[in-house]
Amino acid sequence: MTDVLTVRDLRAGYDGGTVLDGVDLTVPEGGVVALLGRNGAGKTTLVHTVMGLLKPYSGSIRVGDRDLAGAAPHTVARSGVAIVPQGRRVFAPLTVEENLRLAAGRDRAGRAWTVRRVYELMPRLAERRGHRGDQLSGGEQQMLAIGRALLRNPRLLLLDEPSDGLAPAVVDDVAVLLEGLRGEGIAALLVEQDLHLAFRLAGEVAVMRKGQIVHRAPTSEFRADRARAHALLGVG
Ligand SMILES: Nc1ncnc2c1ncn2[C@@H]1O[C@H](COP(=O)(O)OP(=O)(O)OP(=O)(O)O)[C@@H](O)[C@H]1O
Ligand SMILES: [Mg+2]
Repeated sequence: MTDVLTVRDLRAGYDGGTVLDGVDLTVPEGGVVALLGRNGAGKTTLVHTVMGLLKPYSGSIRVGDRDLAGAAPHTVARSGVAIVPQGRRVFAPLTVEENLRLAAGRDRAGRAWTVRRVYELMPRLAERRGHRGDQLSGGEQQMLAIGRALLRNPRLLLLDEPSDGLAPAVVDDVAVLLEGLRGEGIAALLVEQDLHLAFRLAGEVAVMRKGQIVHRAPTSEFRADRARAHALLGVG
């Protein structure tokens, strides 16, 4: 299987300080890899560096056959990478419809995702299309953030804690939604603290500690090894 994302010996941080300390990570074409790790491990920093929001000190980031280390976010986006940021970050003063239209850009023929298709996938958003971003529930904002990312027609989605701050029933809605995307051939790097959600969606897990990937395993193997999960994540 070929990889859609290949990160090698990636170093990055803030103001000269090191957060990512030699990250090696791959995501297979169409596959979902859960990125686990304690608070402050560097997960969001990795997602931002892949997206071009933070320039790496060194190392390589390949998406397909393009080397994107240090590339600007719009260049990374054009290579087929879309981000669902931690904390969702929808545009509060804009309506659902405006948020989606902005993400869709000018409608181009032959694109897999359209605003209409996002509404079909998430009828809830269609009902709320005239509501402003700041009038949505947390779950609705998360759906809007996912819808916006899909409208970029990505081959790789970077999902940074999609369950963060959501009630369990709403996390389930998001899980059903993301499961429904499996057949679409979109690969995902899924940062998640909710292990149930991570295990449900991901074929493999990667564990980050202090800016390095310290463990990688198929999900089935990882979830069977409770002692290791506890040692790496501090949870049972
Ligand atoms: N903008 C920033 N400026 C300076 N330091 C930062 C900045 N963002 C994050 N850091 C630091 O980088 C380290 C890694 O943070 P990061 O947000 O990548 O962790 P994380 O694994 O995503 O954590 P969480 O699970 O809490 O979201 C932390 O020590 C954090 O304080
Ligand atoms: Mg984070």
